[in-house]
Amino acid sequence: MSNEKNCCCGCSQEDPRLAELMETIDKNRETKGALIPVLHKVQTLYGYLPEDVLQVVSEELDVPMTEIYGVASFYSIFSLEPKGEHIIRVCLGTACYVKGAQLLIDEISKDLKIEVGQTTPDGKFTLEACRCLGACGLAPVLTVGEKVYGRLVPESIPGILAEYK
Ligand code: FES
Repeated sequence: MSNEKNCCCGCSQEDPRLAELMETIDKNRETKGALIPVLHKVQTLYGYLPEDVLQVVSEELDVPMTEIYGVASFYSIFSLEPKGEHIIRVCLGTACYVKGAQLLIDEISKDLKIEVGQTTPDGKFTLEACRCLGACGLAPVLTVGEKVYGRLVPESIPGILAEYK
């Protein structure tokens, strides 16, 4: 396959991510269950699974698009929609839940005007709920990207969001 797809920004440059993806495809081509590691690579490179890239995967691995969508929808790690620049994950594990994690979600939803699973129209924030983050001692906990915030109350939320607005 040639990597003639244009860059994501619309310029006429080739998209360098496709070359990287092709390396992963070539490495896994003969492996049973190659689809999962290849989709992982797409998710890492693009932040989600763009349809035109999935078409390439489908052709290269000779896997029908229906099967790819089935796998992509089954695993929550894969996203078929673009995500925001900052991903907010609120832990809804037991320790966090009993200490008021839902109130944090309510406060974020109110502030950003999005529900769990949604992205703000400006593409800045995506709000997600997740299972135990392994920091129960700090419950309730949320993360923004890699940064962990703990022992939160709803009043903590505006200050945290302001760091990223
Ligand atoms: S339950 Fe939230 S970090 Fe463990």
